[in-house]
Amino acid sequence: MNLEVIILAAGQGTRMKSSLPKVLHPVAGRPLLQHVVETAQQLQPVAIHVVVGHGAQQVQEAMGAFELNWVQQTEQLGTGHAVLQAMPAVSADSTVLVLYGDVPLIEKVTLEELIGQAKEAPALLTAIVADSAGYGRILRSEEGDLLGVVEDKDADNEQRTIDEINTGVLAAPAADLSAYLPRVGNENKQSEYYLPDVLSLAVAQGKKVASAVAEHELEILGVNDRVQLNQVEREFQRRQAEGLMRQGVWVADAQRLDIRGGVSVGAEVSIDVNVVFEGKVELGDGVSIGPNCYLKNVVIEAGACIHAMSHLEEVHVGAQCNVGPYARLRPGTVLEPRARVGNFVETKKAHVGVGSKINHLSYVGDCEMGQGVNIGAGTITCNYDGVNKHKTEIGNGVFIGSNSTIVAPMQIADGGFVAAGSTVTKAVGEQELAVSRAKQRNISGWQRPGKSGGEN
Ligand code: UD1
Ligand code: MG
Repeated sequence: MNLEVIILAAGQGTRMKSSLPKVLHPVAGRPLLQHVVETAQQLQPVAIHVVVGHGAQQVQEAMGAFELNWVQQTEQLGTGHAVLQAMPAVSADSTVLVLYGDVPLIEKVTLEELIGQAKEAPALLTAIVADSAGYGRILRSEEGDLLGVVEDKDADNEQRTIDEINTGVLAAPAADLSAYLPRVGNENKQSEYYLPDVLSLAVAQGKKVASAVAEHELEILGVNDRVQLNQVEREFQRRQAEGLMRQGVWVADAQRLDIRGGVSVGAEVSIDVNVVFEGKVELGDGVSIGPNCYLKNVVIEAGACIHAMSHLEEVHVGAQCNVGPYARLRPGTVLEPRARVGNFVETKKAHVGVGSKINHLSYVGDCEMGQGVNIGAGTITCNYDGVNKHKTEIGNGVFIGSNSTIVAPMQIADGGFVAAGSTVTKAVGEQELAVSRAKQRNISGWQRPGKSGGEN
């Protein structure tokens, strides 16, 4: 039987106190809704319908990369009403899975089990929770059969003591939803059309409604405010850190590693505390990431070491390189194997050859550099003339003395040597020494200025 998924995402999310639609708030750098969509995709449904209302346009734009059928619910008249809006697009012989756009941690296996139970009649995902306040409570017969759901606001005191709750996740034959949804009324405290009311209608027709109980309370946690958003974030991060540990990574502290994207790892990788990964990060065998590092869209090859406090974005670090502490590698930086970029060094669009070193206090931008180069402390490639960017080309085995400025466009050929404190404005040929600094004069017998006697 074909599966179709309907994701409810039309609500405003007032308690987030934000102009951003609730389902766009990020968990691990991706919108809440994206997490739900990605889980839904794993079930390989024939279609995913998303019901939107508040901030619909913004939500659709943010999710533009996904193939989704957008359903408009201009007035939020309740979860039953929301699902009903999507039904015309759903084929009559499918099984429908209803998910909430603000419940992002739901797992594929849980959903598969639920769908398996929804062949002939609706099936509901429930959970036993420590504090059931606010949730719809599950009503069961003495034999334990599911009879329906009573919403918190409509429940009497006895019903409120029930600790089995409706998670909101429901699977049902499309035919059942089409039959029962139009019959759901809104005579309740909230004057809303409740989706779970289809269950009591099905039971009244003699159907047996199945249920699955979610194992982990956090899996079904819905985000209504920023406190819950943070609970979901931390749980998601914990799962990711555990996933890395299971792949053999040494993680100093699962609570101090944030992964906002995807990380692939080789063997024997180690990650110290307070590390943030964004986008796509690839760490080869034996890579070590020191404390307080930020890495976004990077490839770090085997044996490279990123020392404390380093910031890398869109860079490729070759095998056995050493970076930092306190290095900033900006987009377009490529370090060939065994290169070394040390403290307080900034690079941008810099290709650093095998074994070359930029050890201290430098800016190297728009630079093509050969092998075995040594860049002295305080060297600056002056790549910007106020209007355009220019390139610096440095050959193999070049030595640049400390505190040199290289005014681009500039070429320093293989084996070139620049004396410390030079401002290089003329190309340096192979094996040439370039010195461009004021000659030193020593004046003997120099009297230091003394105090002139005046008060101040
Ligand atoms: C709902 C359930 C409740 C369950 C709880 C679990 C109903 C009537 N109640 O209550 O039994 O315990 O979730 O968290 O279903 N939405 C729309 N359009 C609407 C109304 C809601 O798209 O007209 C969306 C919301 O954006 C949200 C979801 O449906 O993603 C749930 O709506 P919400 O108002 O949060 O329902 P609850 O009162 O939490
Ligand atoms: Mg809710």
